[in-house]
Amino acid sequence: MKIVVVGSKGTLGLAASRFWNDPRVASRIAAGRGGEAKPSNDLVIPLNLPDFDACSRMIVVDTIGDIRPDVIVNASGVNLIDWLESHPNTARNVHGHAVSNLKAAARRTGALLVQFGCGEAFYRKRLQTNESDDPDAISPEAPGFTEEDSPSPESVYAKTKLESERIALEAPKSLVLRFSSLFGETSDYSSGNLVDSLFKSLARAKKISVLNDRMIEPLWSIDVLCALKTLIEAGARGVYHLTGNSRATPLEVAEYLFQRCGFRNREVVGISAEEYGIKAPQSAFTVLSSAKYGVVEGSYKLPDWKTALDNYIDWRQSYADF
Ligand SMILES: NC(=O)c1ccc[n+]([C@@H]2O[C@H](COP(=O)([O-])OP(=O)(O)OC[C@H]3O[C@@H](n4cnc5c(N)ncnc54)[C@H](OP(=O)(O)O)[C@@H]3O)[C@@H](O)[C@H]2O)c1
Repeated sequence: MKIVVVGSKGTLGLAASRFWNDPRVASRIAAGRGGEAKPSNDLVIPLNLPDFDACSRMIVVDTIGDIRPDVIVNASGVNLIDWLESHPNTARNVHGHAVSNLKAAARRTGALLVQFGCGEAFYRKRLQTNESDDPDAISPEAPGFTEEDSPSPESVYAKTKLESERIALEAPKSLVLRFSSLFGETSDYSSGNLVDSLFKSLARAKKISVLNDRMIEPLWSIDVLCALKTLIEAGARGVYHLTGNSRATPLEVAEYLFQRCGFRNREVVGISAEEYGIKAPQSAFTVLSSAKYGVVEGSYKLPDWKTALDNYIDWRQSYADF
């Protein structure tokens, strides 16, 4: 197969473009199935700014028309939720026009278009606390949102990301994967991710403040890649939620990382989104249900977030750049 990865320098794009054919990815997929690892020899073509701007119809249609891929993985996007609130045109360009361009290219070439969505599609104002009887609050233990639940995006980011899903689903062959929170190796070009930011903060500050009023489901980019590969193999189409069926606040993730990596003389404290000064309406609860994904024949078993974080740390150490 020929795969193009758009946004190849971001967290997910980097994982997909660097590790698509990595034997460790094949072993992970095989381990869950209890079978032999099947090596893949796909041709993976990374595309990113500045040479490839997905917002340019001419560049997208010409480049992808020449390549004639079997799959277009659109890992591009802008995840700066607060910043996008005051830059809606950028959000519409990157999450709207760019996806329309990729849809046109997919239609011309017959490629499968893969788009990523987020748990922000379902806005919930705050988490319920023991003391409160607040009608706008959701229990931290509430069941995750399913693919059938009606989206209720609030921020510019969430609204435009939902629009990107809608556009992608108009392609003749498409797959939309939603998840809550992604971590993994980043390049200098990525806008970063929770774990990456925590590492950077823990490395330079004695005391860090991390949100304690958000419920998320962190996933490692390599696990998303494994899930994607198994869904493509199974011929899946439409929308799927990906989760490791485990949830945490960002503070709990920070505390685990802190203990796991043995950072000394550091303090991690909880802070609310309001105290933090978050301006955009970011959802307090982006937990999803992966029941639909779980029944896809041969689908990769996504680990819980602690196992995923352990695996990521081991993976990075094996590269000796951690
Ligand atoms: N990160 C999360 O927690 C999370 C959660 C749920 C869903 N998602 C979704 O998962 C996908 C991947 O996220 P990520 O965290 O890997 O993103 P990321 O690290 O921010 O990377 C996005 C990549 O897209 C590139 N890009 C931006 N505009 C582009 C354009 N016009 N043409 C070509 N490339 C462009 C960026 O390049 P430059 O840096 O050079 O601009 C960057 O390399 C996105 O759709 C995101 O919305 C992410």
